[in-house]
Amino acid sequence: MVPNADTEILDARCTLFTERSGATIAANIYGHFAEHLGRCVQEGIWVGEGSAIDNVRGIRSDVVAALKQLNVPVLRWPGGCFADEYHWKNGIGPREARPRTINTHWGGVIETHHFGTHEFMDLCEQIGAAPYVCGNVGSGTVEEMMQWVEYMTSAADSTMANLRRKNGRAEPWRLPYFGVGNENWACGGSMRPEYYADNYRRYATFVKDYSGNRVTRFACGAAGDDYAWTETLMKIAGRYMAGLSLHYYTLPSGDWSKKGASTGFGEAEWHSTLRRTLVMDELITKHTQIMDRYDPERRVGLVVDEWGTWYDTEPGENPGFLYQRNTLRDALVAALNLNVFHAHAERVTMANLAQAVNVLQALILTRGEKMVLTPTYHVFEMYRVHQGASVVPFELETPSYALDGQVIPALHVTVSRSPAGKLSLSAVNLHATRAASLAVSNVGPLEGRVLTAGALDADNRFDEPPSVVPVAFDGIVPAKGGAVLTLPPRSVVVVTER
Ligand code: AHR
Repeated sequence: MVPNADTEILDARCTLFTERSGATIAANIYGHFAEHLGRCVQEGIWVGEGSAIDNVRGIRSDVVAALKQLNVPVLRWPGGCFADEYHWKNGIGPREARPRTINTHWGGVIETHHFGTHEFMDLCEQIGAAPYVCGNVGSGTVEEMMQWVEYMTSAADSTMANLRRKNGRAEPWRLPYFGVGNENWACGGSMRPEYYADNYRRYATFVKDYSGNRVTRFACGAAGDDYAWTETLMKIAGRYMAGLSLHYYTLPSGDWSKKGASTGFGEAEWHSTLRRTLVMDELITKHTQIMDRYDPERRVGLVVDEWGTWYDTEPGENPGFLYQRNTLRDALVAALNLNVFHAHAERVTMANLAQAVNVLQALILTRGEKMVLTPTYHVFEMYRVHQGASVVPFELETPSYALDGQVIPALHVTVSRSPAGKLSLSAVNLHATRAASLAVSNVGPLEGRVLTAGALDADNRFDEPPSVVPVAFDGIVPAKGGAVLTLPPRSVVVVTER
């Protein structure tokens, strides 16, 4: 949709309190997620050693190169819902001998297990990310989970460690993060919170630290606003966990039976999508309030290990593959979520976009040997400046953006200072048609980039030059003690002190 031009400029100001220092933005907030779902792992990452697509030990090189550019700190695998039906021993040993099972959650397709533990660890090493493995509580045993961790991390002369050696890996891997089940309130076993909390305690007890490896154990957390789940988990199992997850997806309609299309939408769906994205702030605030009662020192992190847009599957695609296109709207959704995570950096210690390739709000789309970097990818690339930086407190005065009786802020901002002392400000202009003038105080000379497009649903396509890419931002006018930024409508701008 190409909006009509609107000449009225929104007027906003942002006062930075640069003398105050906020929490550190955990680099892990910039984490990603790869599930055995549709064409994420299969084709999107794994093509096999015999493929005509350029690869290193079966892992496609173009996708690895693109991910390396983002400084991906952590990668979650193998699911998602798939994790609670994944039996890790199916994914080791000679590939041609690995069992073929049915992926019951995602399209009923055959899972070949050609991409297993060794291949995942290889992927992490190729992109430089820490592995975050999600274990099987729903249909797996305690012994199976215990042996998997031993297989991956033990240097002993034990049967599991020797099996790993026999399969080609002499040294144990470092495994810093382990999830004890996924969505155990639904696809992970339809459990009640009390039952899962007890099971979490039981399974987590046997996720051991071998040979100097220290595993950070995460419990399965709530879906959206299920505050009762958080309350029960914190009460029964809070002291046994280092992190509690939260899953929240943005649906344009808020209705799972008709979510909305990934392209071809108008301003109403643009607005509703951004409005529903901002709900993330309320969710984190309320889950944090509950966690604060049980864990006032904030030892337990909130791990938003699934977030992003979820649209109706692209027509003509397997509905179980969750393939959707990715537009300028997704770029704004990504930036808003990241801004919200920064604002809650004291509690949010990790977040993982769903998902890395070809599924939901993907960073990267592939079709055979072709690859496209999505608008979401570009936001992650622009926002790298915030990884590991300290939040700089600010006050934002912004006009509203109202449509059909629903009101959201027109601008949304985050500010941080890097360990090297450089201040960066990222601003989202949510308004579909109006530019905004943002007066920023207490900042030195700035330079930056902007991501925008002529149409609300502009996307980057196979076989066409990309149309949604960041370009140099020419909307900076120095002012006394600061600068005035002219933000185009529907844009993401990142500026950094020169
Ligand atoms: O990301 C897709 C699916 O969404 C995951 O498998 C599941 O955890 C969630 O419901």
